[in-house]
Amino acid sequence: SKRLVILISGSGSNLQAFIEKQQQGSLGGTIVSVISNNPEAYGLTRAREAGIKAVSLDHKTHASRESFDKELAEEIKKDQPDLIILAGFMRILTPEFVQTFRGKLLNIHPSLLPKYPGLHTHKKALENNDEFHGTSVHFVTEELDGGPLIAQSQMRLIVGSESNEENELNEQQVMQRIQKLEHRLYPEVASWYLNNRLTMEKDGVYFDHKKLERPILF
Ligand code: GAR
Repeated sequence: SKRLVILISGSGSNLQAFIEKQQQGSLGGTIVSVISNNPEAYGLTRAREAGIKAVSLDHKTHASRESFDKELAEEIKKDQPDLIILAGFMRILTPEFVQTFRGKLLNIHPSLLPKYPGLHTHKKALENNDEFHGTSVHFVTEELDGGPLIAQSQMRLIVGSESNEENELNEQQVMQRIQKLEHRLYPEVASWYLNNRLTMEKDGVYFDHKKLERPILF
């Protein structure tokens, strides 16, 4: 069976969605370990409760990004994963790390990329009065939140015809809705990869041997 390693930094609600898909038998692989750079991450508890190896590698014990990423890469290699899932992993990865696992690294980012790479995506979408907001799954490259897009889910941000106090969503509500979309989207995309339907080539993403011209809307 295919092997997954999941990297987290926090709550791990996306990790939980992967665990549930695995338990349903529709993931197409086995989560062999969960690694967190934050020893306090609640996702580590979720992993342990599901009987999955939970590893904490505190980045604060490293003097440089390079040395942390080296240890992280060594830890991941032990598990010989077919796929590495970044699920709320809030660390910028070095080019060396990305090259080591090229084509096997997926990330989810809470915006309709290429809009809003980086932090505070929900706030930015609200401040800009965007009609749509969403979340994106992409292959990881050296460029932060810039790797080739695979699939996106979206929601309407402007609820009524005009915004007023009552129909305006706040940042917290938007985050919750986006995470609900993520929990459907991300394990599904991973299952495509694990079933050999998805690859990253030099010229982009291939799905069922056809080059994707635009991200799949899921
Ligand atoms: C998710 O919403 C994910 O999109 C976001 O962090 C959250 C993690 O939640 N990722 C990023 O912002 C990456 N830059 P979780 O720990 O409950 O899965």
